[in-house]
Amino acid sequence: MGENLVPDTSVELAGLLLRNPVMPSSGTFGYGLEYKDLYELDTLGAVVTKSVTREPRYGNPLPRIAECDSGMMNSIGLQNPGIDHALEIDFPALRQVYDGPIIANISGFSVGEFAELAARFEKVNYVSALEVNISCPNVHEGGATFGQDPVLAKEITQAVKEVSTKPVFMKLTPNVTDITEIALACEAGGADGISMINNFKAMRIDVRTRKTITAEKYAGLSGPAIRPIAQRMVNEVYHAVRIPIIGIGGIRTADDVLEMVMAGATAIQMGSANLRDPWACKKVIKALPHRMHELGISDLDEIRGVV
Ligand code: SIN
Repeated sequence: MGENLVPDTSVELAGLLLRNPVMPSSGTFGYGLEYKDLYELDTLGAVVTKSVTREPRYGNPLPRIAECDSGMMNSIGLQNPGIDHALEIDFPALRQVYDGPIIANISGFSVGEFAELAARFEKVNYVSALEVNISCPNVHEGGATFGQDPVLAKEITQAVKEVSTKPVFMKLTPNVTDITEIALACEAGGADGISMINNFKAMRIDVRTRKTITAEKYAGLSGPAIRPIAQRMVNEVYHAVRIPIIGIGGIRTADDVLEMVMAGATAIQMGSANLRDPWACKKVIKALPHRMHELGISDLDEIRGVV
């Protein structure tokens, strides 16, 4: 790489052109509005919105957040305003303040509901892609159980693809024995990409009360604690499928982004980091070209899946 050349952080992701590979992960950025006054949202590679379900949901009882060493746990339970409100209010409001690619995360409780939600987004031109959440550990029906069964994972992928012309990313749970089996099933169902991973089913106990810290007994662990496991799984899937991967799991720094790309990711999402530092994505986007320059990387394509 020439001395003065600025490294190219742009990536092509299933037909979407992103100015950089960094996007906030679903559920840690709402519909963008809480962040719009903090920084210029257009700096983001893409925005992934909070899971939308058919009906509005309050989510699980409180408390539903617990701090952990090197991470956090949540048991939110897919709180969201429902598809009608989201399409009428939240997505148009996001479009007002953000010009880049919007990836809408959808979550259903049956195959038919996933298809119905995907069909509703089909009419929203400014939504660039769908992320299909078959991995939420915090609901008692559906959720991660869809993503733990290759037959169901394929069926949901096919149902969404049948009604959608947008790129479809299937969001996978790590709470399985072999994540490549699920990724391959999604690929066979027509998925355009894989988002991975959602959080790990976990538990914390308050030793004074002898009760779990979250009102729900189990909750999802995310943050730096899971990053090496996420990278191992991304690497396994990278070597198993031909479709692109959005790597997710504990990313906080430019080096973390580069590691995830070296493991095989095309783009990445940052989740818990936004809750600890709302400027986290912006800082990483700023640092990334400098760190690439220091390491002699001119283009992210040249390091993808090097291991
Ligand atoms: C939640 O709302 O429970 C978190 C979303 C998820 O883990 O998919």
